[in-house]
Amino acid sequence: IAQTDYKLWLQYNKVANSEKITEYQAINKNIVTIGNSETIQIAAKELQNAFKSLINKTVPLSNKTAESANIILANESNLSPELLNQTKTELQKINNEGFVIKTIQLKNKPQILITSKKDIGLLYGIFHYLRLLQTNQSISNLNIIDSPNTNVRILNHWDNLNESVERGYAGSSIWNWQKLPDFIDQRYIDYARANASIGINGTVLNNVNANALILTPQYLEKVKALANTFRPYGIKVYLTARFSAPIEIGKLNTADPLSSEVQQWWKDKAKEIYKYIPDFGGFLVKANSEGQPGPQNYGRNHVDGANMLADAIAPFGGIVMWRAFVYSEHDADDRAKQAYSEFVPYDGKFRDNVIVQVKNGAIDFQPREPFHPLFGAMPKTPLMMEFQITQEYLGFSTHLVFLPKLFQETLEADTFSKGKGSSIAKIIDGSLDNHQLTGIAGVANIGSDLNWCGHPFAQANWYGFGRLAWNPNLDSKTIAEEWLRMTFSNDEKFVLPVQEMMIESREAVVNYMTPLGLHHIMDTGHHYGPGPWVSNLSRPEWNPVYYHKADKNGIGFDRSSTGSNATAQYAPEVAKEFNDIAKCPEKDLLWFHHVSWDYKLKNGATLWNGLALKYQEGVNQVASMQSTWNKIKPYVDEQRFNEVEMLLNIQQKEAKWWRDACLLYFQQFSGKDLPSGVEKPT
Ligand code: GCU
Repeated sequence: IAQTDYKLWLQYNKVANSEKITEYQAINKNIVTIGNSETIQIAAKELQNAFKSLINKTVPLSNKTAESANIILANESNLSPELLNQTKTELQKINNEGFVIKTIQLKNKPQILITSKKDIGLLYGIFHYLRLLQTNQSISNLNIIDSPNTNVRILNHWDNLNESVERGYAGSSIWNWQKLPDFIDQRYIDYARANASIGINGTVLNNVNANALILTPQYLEKVKALANTFRPYGIKVYLTARFSAPIEIGKLNTADPLSSEVQQWWKDKAKEIYKYIPDFGGFLVKANSEGQPGPQNYGRNHVDGANMLADAIAPFGGIVMWRAFVYSEHDADDRAKQAYSEFVPYDGKFRDNVIVQVKNGAIDFQPREPFHPLFGAMPKTPLMMEFQITQEYLGFSTHLVFLPKLFQETLEADTFSKGKGSSIAKIIDGSLDNHQLTGIAGVANIGSDLNWCGHPFAQANWYGFGRLAWNPNLDSKTIAEEWLRMTFSNDEKFVLPVQEMMIESREAVVNYMTPLGLHHIMDTGHHYGPGPWVSNLSRPEWNPVYYHKADKNGIGFDRSSTGSNATAQYAPEVAKEFNDIAKCPEKDLLWFHHVSWDYKLKNGATLWNGLALKYQEGVNQVASMQSTWNKIKPYVDEQRFNEVEMLLNIQQKEAKWWRDACLLYFQQFSGKDLPSGVEKPT
């Protein structure tokens, strides 16, 4: 088996353009490191290895500048006065994880200086620099000043201790708990390196549906081994904290957050954890959600629970990421309203080291959701974004869907919380409400598969998540292009059509699964394939019929002021738009309105015809993805070409399955024929 796709976006293929390779060879003659941390050594080694394959050159490494061109790595405190002079102003503009890459003059020769406040910035800097080479950009006269916009850029692994992965579609967990702590799988190092290359600086190792055993000494030894492995790559380890752990592993008979023995138990536990892992990041908590234990089991609330853990961990510098993914069958008129109703009253009541983690939408990682109304509604509380990189509702690792397009749509959404221009990106990076603690989490799509993510293109979702976590204002088109050039080829004949295919892929999945604002009509439990007819589950809000509400009058969930009034949870400017059927963006129409089958869409088609045509469009889009892929065959290795070809064939079959199943089912209510242009189900 060729290992090509194991290398992710760090392929370091030999630069094909001869002018470029000459330019790169001339500038990269010596690597000079000043300082000797493990991080700087990793950075220098990465450069050496990369140069060997990118420009076919063995570049020597030393700690003294040579007479010829040098690429110099040194943090601020190790810069000679001469070097510092040339980068002082730039260094003032970066934060502790940022970097400067600047072409300077030394001994009358142009040199490239990569500098930073801390050594981790050097590692981020060399990966940025190598990206320039990987994507064939010019490296003369560089003056790059870059820092991450968020502090906590973190993967959430939903990995269980038995090595299964909840909603994981790429094999089993990469954490081999049985062999840890003594066996450090090369994969852990490769994982850390890949994450560092895109600026990810945190990882929650275990599932939000948590097992308290992870907090016992037996497991903490293993966690420590992973933390030690990741540390030089700038990655901190976090764990999920099962709220009932004091009972399960602590022999207490309560987990009441106001009980002093429970508080003491967590304080002691925190102290113990920090003995193993002095830079432990903190806890991620799913409490009183989908059957998980939490403070409400004791008549307490989210603030009581989060603050109790925050107090335990604060002396050591840890944080608590408290999830807002809550809903209950007892208040099931509209699940979309519940997190807001429950959390907004707590605004400003959490400790400084608590950040509330909110999914991008109010239901659950659908192909499209309007942004979560909590964004903008809790200005006194730091909120972090939770995206799902694993494709639970988007075709698992079988369908090609480029998620940064979805992420970007959410990040750009305007909450109007402080007037026009109050984008979610500004809430997440702390600039709108002036928060210091900021973050973005992504539910990982990584597993033991040889290619890490199951689908060769699912790697782009991991990559793109990291890039957007670093800079939430990046354009997903740029991300797709970078990734393609680094992962496959710089040939424009390959890059341009495939970039377009990736960008289109997100709308394609929306069209063939849930067009016009439909949502949560996937088959039950596993969430793969259509199941709009499912109506027999014990909790009403688990049934697809609860979400689409199709009847002979029409289809869609009335969340406007005449319905559940979920629209009132948005700022007035936004609510006004969503409330008014004529102004509501059509992409969200059936999310907010129950719409008659004869309603005229903006293009003049009736709702029924428009819906059917959208399903067909989704199928057509996948066909066009297939034809694009067939055309680029000369530019891709055989293995990855074949894999993607087979997967696109499945996606095409399943897009039709979605179209036929949904249209046949909804047709029972509309009672109308399919319009011309929509293929008849076979
Ligand atoms: C979804 C998913 C669950 C997960 C939950 C969560 O409901 O299906 O597997 O546990 O989200 O985010 O907590």
